[in-house]
Amino acid sequence: MQEVKYENLENIQRELLFEAERVMETAYNPYSHFYVGAALLSQDGKIITGSNVENAAYGSTVCAERAAILRANARGIRTFDKLAIIARGEGFDTKTITAPCGSCRQMLFEFSQISEKNLEVIMSTTKRDKIIVATIDELLPLAFGPKDLGIDIKKYQ
Ligand code: THU
Repeated sequence: MQEVKYENLENIQRELLFEAERVMETAYNPYSHFYVGAALLSQDGKIITGSNVENAAYGSTVCAERAAILRANARGIRTFDKLAIIARGEGFDTKTITAPCGSCRQMLFEFSQISEKNLEVIMSTTKRDKIIVATIDELLPLAFGPKDLGIDIKKYQ
């Protein structure tokens, strides 16, 4: 896990943040008024985005990260290399990076297992003044996954 200056990011990492920022404006967020965008990079080089979709039954809310995974899955894409996350409040920029919630980490871990890749997660403040790059193993150590159940998920690649 490391803090990286924007100017030191790889081009693809910047592109993912750009796409995540773009899609965050589509957030359906009447309750929190918090805008989150996520952009996945698939192993075949496609970018798939998602934004948070809230619900009057608050617990039924879907985060941007999981929305991106669901959109990718519906396109038959389940292997990923990277994910970028960015957010803003209603009328304010975030001062700390936005990191995936516990449920999103668990779902990202599932797809990292399918991907056979320790997924890279790029997390940024709104204005990119603080960026942390971590792996899903760092965000969710000692994770429970398909291997614990003796399940081979390779065929879902
Ligand atoms: N949210 C995300 O979409 N991703 C995160 O990483 C953190 C939280 C959303 C869920 C909800 O719509 C709003 O942010 C406030 O929790």
